[in-house]
Order: sequence, then C-alpha cells, then structure tokens
Amino acid sequence: MHVVGTRPNFMKVAPLMREIFRYPQKFDQLFVHTGQHYDYEMSKSFFNDLKLPSPDIYLGIGSGTHAEQTGKIMIEFEKICFKEKPDLIIVVGDVNSTIACALVATKLCIPVAHVEAGLRSFDRTMPEEVNRILTDQISDYLFTTCEDANQNLIKEGIPKQNIFFVGNVMIDTLLGNIEIAKSSIILEKLELRKNNSIKKYAVVTLHRPSNVDNREILNGILNVLNELAKEISIIFPAHPRTIKQMQSFKLVKLANYKENVFSNDLNKKTQNMLTISPLSYLDFLCLMSSATIVLTDSGGIQEETTILGIPCLTLRNNTERPITVKEGTNILVGNNSDKIMSIALSVLKNENSKKKIPKYWDGKSAERIIKILIKNGRL
Ligand code: UD1
Repeated sequence: MHVVGTRPNFMKVAPLMREIFRYPQKFDQLFVHTGQHYDYEMSKSFFNDLKLPSPDIYLGIGSGTHAEQTGKIMIEFEKICFKEKPDLIIVVGDVNSTIACALVATKLCIPVAHVEAGLRSFDRTMPEEVNRILTDQISDYLFTTCEDANQNLIKEGIPKQNIFFVGNVMIDTLLGNIEIAKSSIILEKLELRKNNSIKKYAVVTLHRPSNVDNREILNGILNVLNELAKEISIIFPAHPRTIKQMQSFKLVKLANYKENVFSNDLNKKTQNMLTISPLSYLDFLCLMSSATIVLTDSGGIQEETTILGIPCLTLRNNTERPITVKEGTNILVGNNSDKIMSIALSVLKNENSKKKIPKYWDGKSAERIIKILIKNGRL
C-alpha cells in the first residue's frame, strides 16, 4: 500500500508504482491519497502529468494545524489498514502524511518502507525534521538517496541491515519526463521564448513557514526579488500558502501576483517580476530546465537543479540535502536581503555551474527498491 499526501510525494511514488506494475501476477498494490494537498494545481494536475492511476482510496483530509492534520490522517488511515490488511506500507518523504501513516502501520505491526530516509537538517524547528526522525525510527526498510543519510541513520541507532542506499526516486521521475517536458508551451505563455530564442530568466519558489509566515521576512524577500528583477526577469510560481500570506499581508502588488498567467506584463521594463499560480509538473520542469538561476526554499528543487546543472540559491540557513551543496549546484543563502542579492549577482556574472551527478541519481532507484523488497520477501 502506497501513501501520498502532498505535491512532492507524487513524483516519488510514480516510479515505484510503475516498477511494481511490472509484476502483475505477483503483487497487488493499493494507492492511498490522504488529500493533504487538494487544489487542482497541487494534486490532480500531477496525476495527469505523471500518468499516475487515480487513488484507490482518497481520505480527503485537507488543511489544518499539524495536530489536526496528523490526527485526522491517522484516524482515517487506521480504518483502511483494518479493512485492507496490507502486507507492506510504503511512505515517501517527510510530510505530515508520511509520519501519520507510518505510525499507524507500525502499531498494527505492518512493516513500513520509508523512501528518502536519513535526511537531516538538524533543525527541529522545521516540522519536516521531526517527521523525518520519527518516521525513520519506526520504519523497517530505510531507503536512502545518499551515503551521508546512511551515516545519520547509523548514528541514531538504526540497524545497518535495514538501511539501503538506492539513490533518488524523484530523479527517476525527472529523467523519465525531461524530454516530454520539452513539449510544454509554458515558455511561450510567459513570453520567455520567441522564434526559438529563450530570454534569460530566474525561477523562484517559496513556501516554508520560516520564509512566508512572517510579514517582515516575506516583505524583505519580495523587495530583494524586485531589486534582482532589474537584472533578470523573474517568474515566481507561488504555493497556495504563499499566495494566501501575500494576500493577508497585503503584499500582492509587491509580488506582482497574476492569477492568469496569460495576462503577464513582463515585457514592460518597469515590472520584471511576475508571481503566478502553481504550475503542473511538466510545465514547471520545462520552466526550471531553461532557467539561468533558481531561488527556492524547496527540498526537491535543490536536487532537481543539481541534476539539471542550474545554479540554485536556497533561501534557508541549513539543508537536509548537503550533497546538493557539496557535489551539486546548491548554495545556501538564508533570507538576508544583502546576502541573497550579492550571491545572485555573482552567480549571474559567472554562469558556469559545477555539475557532478550524485551516485545512483541515475533513474534506476525505484528498480533497486523493488528488487530489495522482493529479495527480502516483502513483495
Ligand atoms: C507541505 C509539507 C512540506 C512540503 C510541502 C510541499 C508538511 C508539514 N509540510 O507543506 O514539507 O514541502 O507540502 O508543497 O507536511 N493549501 C492550499 N491548497 C492545497 C494545499 C495547501 O490552499 O492543496 C494551503 C492551505 O492554506 C494550507 C497551507 O497551504 O493551510 C499549508 O498546507 P499544508 O499541507 O499544511 O502544508 P504545506 O505548506 O503545503
């Protein structure tokens, strides 16, 4: 039984499901969506782009405080487990749906496989860090994306024989879709490509509470983006949480938020930054892969830009994905305006980015995971 809840979960589960479908006589798989994310652009469009089957079970949990969301998922997911009696639960990533379902399963003595285990930011003010630590402690199979994650798990007392370094399933999805994404017309819609020539632009995404839930911080970031927009066009597909915060803090104008991407005014010299609604997977992949620079606070985008060889400025003081800094194109810049600006300008001047592909980020991670589960008699 697979569990998904939020946008970044969908690209992680897609290659796993596809791999299991290769053995139709051997296993059944059930697909549960908790409904943590529910907007079309945050959920349904990803099912379409990734050709994911419709969920067998939709819990429709929606938003709420951490306790409300986690608690509601647990109550509903336990009923599903009683009814379906799965032999294995596969959870991915670090969101509230991940810990909620892992906790229910482990108490019912159902084995849990955690895909993307062992990542640590060492910052427990981040809700995801708490979810990561707890999920790993109660999982039976811990599949990691990099060797430093193995070390983190060993330090926390996880038995070595439960840890498997398999690479990155999110990159399986990126490599499987990069050619398909080229047929997206998002660059034309945003007037970034004309007659086969692509103008230089930056892509921004922000959704972490530490960046968007405080007016002063969000205001500071939007101001520095407006400064940077004097150097390079900026496209900012904003998470619904960020849009809501911009609206309640009265920062919509500063962000130049346009709900309809067709009505952009990027070409007017005075306004070179555009905030739009979230994009589908393929449109975003197309947009990101032709960008000159990316500024983000997302976890997954730090990894995707590393594979694409695009400089990534991460607006956080730490990362649970240090391999993207050590081997990839990621630079941690925090949310200090001067630092963001000076590093962005220096990256724009010197566009040659390092491009080392981390080990096993090769498109075959799901295959490795399913082989291990079969070998261990779990499938
Ligand atoms: C969640 C994950 C985060 C992940 C992010 C990816 C947790 C603790 N956080 O954060 O790790 O990086 O997803 O996108 O699980 N909202 C909508 N429509 C939606 C979903 C959310 O409008 O479809 C708005 C609501 O106002 C909601 C807010 O976004 O209250 C936050 O949603 P929530 O699921 O709590 O967390 P995210 O910020 O999306």
